Amino acid sequence: MSAAASARPGSLVRPLVAGNWKMNGLTASLAEIEAMAAGYDAALRARIDLLVCPPATLVGAAAAKAAGRIAIGGQDCHARASGAHTGDVAAEMLKDLGTSYVIVGHSERRADHGESSAVVKAKAQAALRAGLIAIVCVGETEAERKAGRTLDVVGGQLRDSLPEEARADQVVIAYEPVWAIGTGLTPTAADVAEVHAFVRAQLGKAMGEQGAGVRILYGGSVKPSNAAELMAVPNVDGALVGGASLTAKDFLGIAAAYR
Ligand code: PGA
Repeated sequence: MSAAASARPGSLVRPLVAGNWKMNGLTASLAEIEAMAAGYDAALRARIDLLVCPPATLVGAAAAKAAGRIAIGGQDCHARASGAHTGDVAAEMLKDLGTSYVIVGHSERRADHGESSAVVKAKAQAALRAGLIAIVCVGETEAERKAGRTLDVVGGQLRDSLPEEARADQVVIAYEPVWAIGTGLTPTAADVAEVHAFVRAQLGKAMGEQGAGVRILYGGSVKPSNAAELMAVPNVDGALVGGASLTAKDFLGIAAAYR
């Protein structure tokens, strides 16, 4: 996303507030998508992009429900465009349903499915191939933070997961400390600032001038009550929200940090 009139002072990018529903949601939950789209009013539209990533089962219906008012994305994709990969979903299939983003390398997939950064990079490349924006997730575990290895780990994941060919408007980075996901714990603003500044610097090294235009989201226990403080941190260009994205009330409450 390039410089936009709606970007905050000092920021080159238009913020993105993204919801990750994980393995939650039945067809009845589409009413929340409808309510989110209705609540994404002119004031919010002027300032931020809003995205919801429902489970694959709901992506098509959610995209139809959102009808271009808010963006819909996938939570994962296979590296290949088609083939004998039972149970997997190709980036092209997500694109075909009307999505514009896909999350890759979420820590739950790295942990539950053993996804290495090389696999995550191949998935991000698949997203680019299909014309989707890849949200590449990075973040340290509690043990890694305690051992003082946060920047090492995040730097390594970034280096090995980010496609060299990506332009600023094709990728989003989500910094999600694993120990903050679903726990109610959040890093201090100073800790978030340190990691986001580091990610910005690494992006500059990897992508040159394009690095300044990549959105860097913070994720991990973002809720309406802490969103304004977290979103005010330098180099935080939005949020990746799990639990609090399941209802329109909480999700829009987080988006309200940008009002
Ligand atoms: P959480 O999840 O907001 O429920 O902590 C964030 C995420 O995993 O993206």
